Amino acid sequence: MNASNEMSDAGETIEFGRTSGGGGAAGLQKEWDNPAIGAFDGVDKAPGSPKPDPILVAREVSRSFGGLRAVDVEHVEIQRGAITALIGPNGAGKTTFFNLLTNFDHPDTGTVKFNGEETSGVRSHELAAKGMVRTFQLTKVLAKMSVLDNMMLAAQNQSGEVMRRGLMNGWRRQENEVEQRAREILDEFNMTHMESEYAGALSGGQRKLLEMARAMMANPSLIMLDEPMAGVNPALTQSLLGHVKRLRSEGITVMFVEHDMDVVQDISDWVVVMAEGSIIAEGPPRSIGENQAVVDAYLGSSHAALTDEIREAVEQVPADTDLTDLPEGDDTDG
Ligand SMILES: Nc1ncnc2c1ncn2[C@@H]1O[C@H](COP(=O)(O)OP(=O)(O)O)[C@@H](O)[C@H]1O
Ligand SMILES: [Mg+2]
Repeated sequence: MNASNEMSDAGETIEFGRTSGGGGAAGLQKEWDNPAIGAFDGVDKAPGSPKPDPILVAREVSRSFGGLRAVDVEHVEIQRGAITALIGPNGAGKTTFFNLLTNFDHPDTGTVKFNGEETSGVRSHELAAKGMVRTFQLTKVLAKMSVLDNMMLAAQNQSGEVMRRGLMNGWRRQENEVEQRAREILDEFNMTHMESEYAGALSGGQRKLLEMARAMMANPSLIMLDEPMAGVNPALTQSLLGHVKRLRSEGITVMFVEHDMDVVQDISDWVVVMAEGSIIAEGPPRSIGENQAVVDAYLGSSHAALTDEIREAVEQVPADTDLTDLPEGDDTDG
C-alpha cells in the first residue's frame, strides 16, 4: 500500500506516469519543500491548542440534527501553511464540521474566523473568493462536460456575481483569461492531455484530481479536502499526495478529512481527532496513534495501542460497522 516509501534507492519504479503523462515529473515522486517544518514546535499536543499563526479558528461550534449533537467543537485552530488532517471514526462529525467551516451548513452556536474575519453570513462562493475552497467526499464534476469546461465552470461558480457581470461586459476577454488559467492549472496537475475528454470518462482517481484542480481556480489560500483519496487506486494516490505536498510548498494551507492512516502519516504536519462531535486529541502524526483517547475512540477498548496491525484491522472493518458491539473471541478469520 505504501510501497513508494521503500523505493528510494532500490532502482525499482512504479509507473505513475501512465495515468498522468504530459507534464513530466511534477506531482509524482519529487520531494517538495515543506514550509511547515518547525511550525508546530512548542505547540501543546491537546485539543484546542493555540497555533502560532492560525488561518482558521472555530469556537463553541455546534450543530444538532434532531436529538443528535453531530458537532460540538469547543475550540480548534488550524495553522497557516501546514497540512492538517482531520480524522476520527465514521460518524464522528467530520463532514458536518467541514460543512460548518465552509458555510455549506450553519452552526446552531459558535463562530468561525477565517483570516481573523468572522464567516457567519458569508456565502460559500464569497468565501471561495476570499480564498477558502472545499472539495466534496463525493466528487461533483459534471460527467457530460469536458475536463476543460469543468474547470471553467468552477471559476464561474466560485466567482458568482463577478462572472455574471462579466457576461455583459468584456465577456470574451474574461473567458480567455479564465481559459488560460484553467489550462495552466491542468498542466500543473499533469492533465493537459485530458482537457477535451468528458469528465465522466475519467477514473475515480482522475476525477479526484480534477476536483482538486477545479478548487485551484479560486486561487485559494486554504483548501479543504473531504476524503481526497477515497476510492483511488494506490498509484494515483501517490500522485494525489504529491500534488497536495506541492500545494503546501506553494504556501497553500490544506485541511483534509482522511481515514487512511498511511496517508495521514505521509502528508500531514498536524492531526486533529474528532469523536462524537468533539475534538478529542491533537498532535503530530507520529504521536497520535499512541494517544489513549484516540485508541479508545477507534476501538471502544482501553487497553490496546494503535499498532500497525490494529490500524489495518480498523481500516478493513466496513465503514458502517458499530465497533462498540463486535462479538467476542473474534480470532477465527485471520
Ligand atoms: N443532514 C443530516 N441529517 C441528520 N443526521 C445527519 C445529517 N448529516 C450528518 N448526520 C449525522 O451526524 C453524525 C455525523 O455525521 P458526519 O458528519 O457525516 O460524520 P463523518 O463525516 O465523521 O463520518 C452522524 O451520526 C450522521 O448520521
Ligand atoms: Mg464524512
